[in-house]
Amino acid sequence: MTREEVWQTLLQKIVSCNECDLSRNRTNAVPGEGSLEPELMLVGEGPGANEDLQGRPFVGEAGKLLDRLLVTIHLTRQEVFIGNTVKCRPPNNRAPTAQELECCKPYLIAQIAWLQPKIICVLGNSALSSLIGPQFSVSKVRGQILFIDGMYYMPTYHPAAALYRREILSVLESDFKILQKWLKEKKI
Ligand code: URA
Repeated sequence: MTREEVWQTLLQKIVSCNECDLSRNRTNAVPGEGSLEPELMLVGEGPGANEDLQGRPFVGEAGKLLDRLLVTIHLTRQEVFIGNTVKCRPPNNRAPTAQELECCKPYLIAQIAWLQPKIICVLGNSALSSLIGPQFSVSKVRGQILFIDGMYYMPTYHPAAALYRREILSVLESDFKILQKWLKEKKI
């Protein structure tokens, strides 16, 4: 298989996956989108209602905020890859369970391995739990550049948190500046 075929096969597996119950109620799976050669990958929690309808990540209110945060560091959606820990919408927008995170994780790991981003911006506790471990909390490790098993990560709050707690917005903005500086200098 060519490199392109490997990616297409992975996308096919994601959109036809029935490994967990989240698949039962989906309109569309949301594999993620953006640059296929990204320096920066962002990983959110899981699709909400709008994402489920459109099959695209972060297209609702949290997505608009994410777009604005990217603009502040002079990046567009087309220049980064935006993905999620689970690819199907959890009912009533609840957080994915530990079991659902585990079930979907091989897809995320395969996407990371294929995309080879330089750094992953971990958005919120579900992504932190899936990628780094359930013992961590965003409020404790946010804004830090972590180097774990050969990959750089920068955890921060999920943009949706800033929609109902405005004080989170300035924290997100300063964390995105840390990301911008790291991307410019490629060092901590
Ligand atoms: N929230 C997420 O975590 N992911 C999306 O795709 C949309 C909202």
